[in-house]
Amino acid sequence: MEGKICVITGASKGVGRGIVRQLADKGVYLVLLARGKEALDELLEEVKSVGGKGMAIPCSISDREGMKAMAQKVFDEVGVPDFLVNNAGAWSFQDFCDNDYESWDWMIDVNIRGHLNAISVFLPAMKKENKGHIINITSDSERVPFPGVAVYTGTKFFMDGCMQALRMELKNTKIKITNILPGFVWTDGLEKTLRDPVQAKAMKEMGLGDPELFIEKKDLMIQPEDLGVTVYDVMKAGDNYYVYDMMVRDKLQEMI
Ligand SMILES: NC(=O)c1ccc[n+]([C@@H]2O[C@H](COP(=O)([O-])OP(=O)(O)OC[C@H]3O[C@@H](n4cnc5c(N)ncnc54)[C@H](OP(=O)(O)O)[C@@H]3O)[C@@H](O)[C@H]2O)c1
Repeated sequence: MEGKICVITGASKGVGRGIVRQLADKGVYLVLLARGKEALDELLEEVKSVGGKGMAIPCSISDREGMKAMAQKVFDEVGVPDFLVNNAGAWSFQDFCDNDYESWDWMIDVNIRGHLNAISVFLPAMKKENKGHIINITSDSERVPFPGVAVYTGTKFFMDGCMQALRMELKNTKIKITNILPGFVWTDGLEKTLRDPVQAKAMKEMGLGDPELFIEKKDLMIQPEDLGVTVYDVMKAGDNYYVYDMMVRDKLQEMI
């Protein structure tokens, strides 16, 4: 892993931060991406404090021109990434019939357009250099549909179909694509959702579970550091094999 370059979207919190912390002392050059600059800068300092290297680039993955400029900066300053961890995501627990169009647009902009933007700005260069591993953090809802998250689930199914087809387009290259499908992960974003009265009510009404119980049992969820270990393991596969999809489920879901 020494000398490899890894871009991580949604790096500043939750799952992304767990992955960054796992990679920080592994000799990987880390390109940290999220919208908020302050949290990114703080994380970069943490990376450097354990001997790691990297840069922080504030950018929304939904901003296509911003993403092109971000990629150019990466090419100019460090080169073509060996890994892209496509992690930043958006969700909302809701009754579909509430027609919350604003949140639908947001989820589609981040989970579909944003993920495509991130892949598109790096893949042609990866193909040219015949290297690269794209790791998409999707969700167990990519396989198991849940009520209350119909649109979110659709965005994650999109990443399944799209990546299956893209793997075929890349079959004569060394490029790998892995989707990681986590269950509940105790993150900043999930905690915010569970404590939001509107989404908590929707969760209960849709039969997704009791948010208060989720918070109480948070230790039975996956922790961001656990996914950091998973991603690192997936990255270390040799040239002769790789993981297509990996579902990582929390124990909590088996108990509710
Ligand atoms: N937590 C779970 O239970 C769970 C379960 C299954 C799958 N997942 C998936 O795991 C991924 C990460 O979730 P999480 O729970 O870690 O989320 P989180 O705690 O809300 O963190 C989200 C991260 O993404 C960044 N971000 C959000 N929108 C962005 C955008 N448009 N452009 C660039 N960065 C953006 C945020 O920073 P800024 O706000 O500063 O941009 C933050 O760093 C998502 O794809 C999610 O669908 C999560």
